[in-house]
Amino acid sequence: MDLCTKADFDQIITEHSEFWDDDRTFPLHHSMFIFEFGDSAFVVREGGKVIAYLLGFLSQVERVGYVHMVAVREGFRRRGLANDLYEHFIDHCRQQGCTGIKATAAPDNEKSIRFHTAIGMTMDGDCTVNGVPAVRGYARPGVDRVVFRMAIDCGDG
Ligand SMILES: CC(C)(COP(=O)(O)OP(=O)(O)OC[C@H]1O[C@@H](n2cnc3c(N)ncnc32)[C@H](O)[C@@H]1OP(=O)(O)O)[C@@H](O)C(=O)NCCC(=O)NCCS
Repeated sequence: MDLCTKADFDQIITEHSEFWDDDRTFPLHHSMFIFEFGDSAFVVREGGKVIAYLLGFLSQVERVGYVHMVAVREGFRRRGLANDLYEHFIDHCRQQGCTGIKATAAPDNEKSIRFHTAIGMTMDGDCTVNGVPAVRGYARPGVDRVVFRMAIDCGDG
């Protein structure tokens, strides 16, 4: 597990379609996640290739680490890589005094929902979309999101 470099980030952007099923998240990959939040941006590499990554940051409004993006390259899934990235991120958040982590997903992203619930995250919601709890209009008017949360032991008591 390594910090994500600008070269890693450029590779992720260039090969985005190998990590994601569609282009929806492409504009959400901003270099500020390396330049401004780089101590919570992690990659797993194999043979010089990025095979999984997590872009995160610490919230400024609550003691929570937020996972902005997590993705595993097609062909490398179901090997525990996303789980490893989360564990690494949680360690980082714990060291920074966070008491929880948070992430979001589109209600139709079944893989993400399966993954986040499998690692023990719970879903906030004020409505149900595609059979899962979601927060109506969370992303913008008319665009709902599943909001995942999990408490973490911050180790200070
Ligand atoms: C979601 C994603 C990051 C999961 O990565 P991964 O490395 O395959 O996940 P892991 O191997 O760590 O999975 C841990 C557990 O989550 C669950 N899980 C993960 N992917 C799953 C899937 N496609 N279907 C059902 N359960 C799944 C399983 O319980 C799994 O444990 P198991 O393999 O022992 O059964 C990956 O599918 C991905 O990159 N998807 C495209 C990008 C994306 O949608 N990212 C999430 C954005 S919010």
